[in-house]
Amino acid sequence: MSAETHGVPIIAASGVCQEYKLARRTLLGRRERLAALQDVSFHAMPGEAVGVVGESGSGKSTLTRLLVGQERPTAGVMEHEGRDLWSLDRDGRQEFRRSVQVVLQNPRSSLDPRMRVGSSLLQPLRALHVEVDMAARVREVLEQVGLGTDVLSKYPHEFSGGQLQRIAIARALMPHPKVVIADEPVSALDVSIQAQVLNLLKDLVTELGLTLVLIAHDLSVVAYTTSRVAVMSGGRIVETGRPADLFHHPTAEATQALVDAVLTVENGLAGKALR
Ligand SMILES: Nc1ncnc2c1ncn2[C@@H]1O[C@H](COP(=O)(O)OP(=O)(O)OP(=O)(O)O)[C@@H](O)[C@H]1O
Ligand SMILES: [Mg+2]
Repeated sequence: MSAETHGVPIIAASGVCQEYKLARRTLLGRRERLAALQDVSFHAMPGEAVGVVGESGSGKSTLTRLLVGQERPTAGVMEHEGRDLWSLDRDGRQEFRRSVQVVLQNPRSSLDPRMRVGSSLLQPLRALHVEVDMAARVREVLEQVGLGTDVLSKYPHEFSGGQLQRIAIARALMPHPKVVIADEPVSALDVSIQAQVLNLLKDLVTELGLTLVLIAHDLSVVAYTTSRVAVMSGGRIVETGRPADLFHHPTAEATQALVDAVLTVENGLAGKALR
């Protein structure tokens, strides 16, 4: 067993289900329900980089929303450092909101276009009432993501997608999180810069001891970045394993489909990560 299999997960879902009521009604007049997640168990250990991969609609973003506490599951338990997320007191909740940060697919919609980068970076600290030397923290975080302080006075439209995603990552790092959940962080970026952003996330795991949950529809993206991967299909986790094992010996049909998708893509990260 590796060291990672010991101890308490920093973030975990046990037997989690998430149902959404749809606008459509059944013949009996009840709202139809959609099971977006069914009996999902998932965890990340401190300092681990874990991947979640699955086709569109498999439930990845729903799991993201549950992991960051944005939605409460209809069944099952969400935990942070062994404590039930939904029974935390005010202080515990506040600490959770600081400790678990999210990076989303499109930095152009996650950063306010009317706000200078400097203000955007300070937003999470203000919202969470974190008391630190803000200027020093901004400098530190910009260095961690490989940007200079010249970005602070600029607006989002002045940056490329890759630079903006770095800024979004910097903003997520501002309150000193223990966990970053990245939902499709590179799928809106040019293939040529995807690896740079993934390398940055990998470096943050190694250098800061950060826990990373990387969510993507592309097996090569999670394989490049993480050491353990859960495959989702139809709202369930159908297989879990090391990326190379999943690639060479897929057992679930959904995993096979993800492998086939990687093999049909000629460029990108596929080769390096999986062979
Ligand atoms: N708020 C909601 N109300 C109703 N249905 C929802 C809601 N959110 C998600 N769904 C449905 O739940 C299922 C899972 O959606 P989810 O967005 O989690 O998938 P995903 O794996 O992130 O897909 P993608 O790769 O396209 O981002 C889909 O069928 C989706 O239509
Ligand atoms: Mg999604």
